[in-house]
Amino acid sequence: MKFFLDTADLADIRWAARAGLIDGVTTNPTLMSRDAGDVDPNDVLKEICSLVDGPVSAEVVAVDAAGMYDEGRELAKLAENIVVKVPLIEDGLVAARRLAANGIKVNVTLAFSSVQCLVAAKAGATYVSPFLGRLDDIGHDAMEIIRETRIMFDNYSLETKILAASIRHPRHVADAALLGADAATMPPDVLRKLLLHPLTDRGLDQFLNDWSKLVAKSKVNA
Ligand code: E4P
Repeated sequence: MKFFLDTADLADIRWAARAGLIDGVTTNPTLMSRDAGDVDPNDVLKEICSLVDGPVSAEVVAVDAAGMYDEGRELAKLAENIVVKVPLIEDGLVAARRLAANGIKVNVTLAFSSVQCLVAAKAGATYVSPFLGRLDDIGHDAMEIIRETRIMFDNYSLETKILAASIRHPRHVADAALLGADAATMPPDVLRKLLLHPLTDRGLDQFLNDWSKLVAKSKVNA
């Protein structure tokens, strides 16, 4: 499973990329407005693209097909690893199809049902992003969308990647992986939590304590 970082925070992206923990980045207008500060959003995107080898999703803000297509083409010029993110609305699918036909990778976002994911795949999306956390928030079984979409894509050999999004905790990552999602995009705090287990810390403390006892004893005996 590929791990993407869901942020526009350059310090977090630098940390995760240097640690070799991520395969790409996703942004959205909310994350850009939170993290870009006074910097031109296109400059932030260029910087992110230079920090990671993998795909970097950048979202359009137009809501008509022609506007999304034009914006997507401009975003794609920023760097080779840009993936243009369009919303899962009728115009978004029209734009996705045109962008894909022009060799531009597209991430269709804001998917909340498996049939929406199917429609995105038929439009030529490279990625489709089902939003797990927001489905949980309204009391749905979020994993159902991953389960059904995986079966649908496999039934028809559709190559669109399932990018589990709106991840809130490590269990979302584990469940999405078990169900065959191709990638998960998560905020930095969730990525950090993937590394943690209290028994790991306790075990390491014990190993190091026992080792120092051994060293102390061997000094006494020397
Ligand atoms: C997906 O690409 C989105 O950026 C993101 O996962 C949305 O997550 P949220 O529901 O936490 O805002």
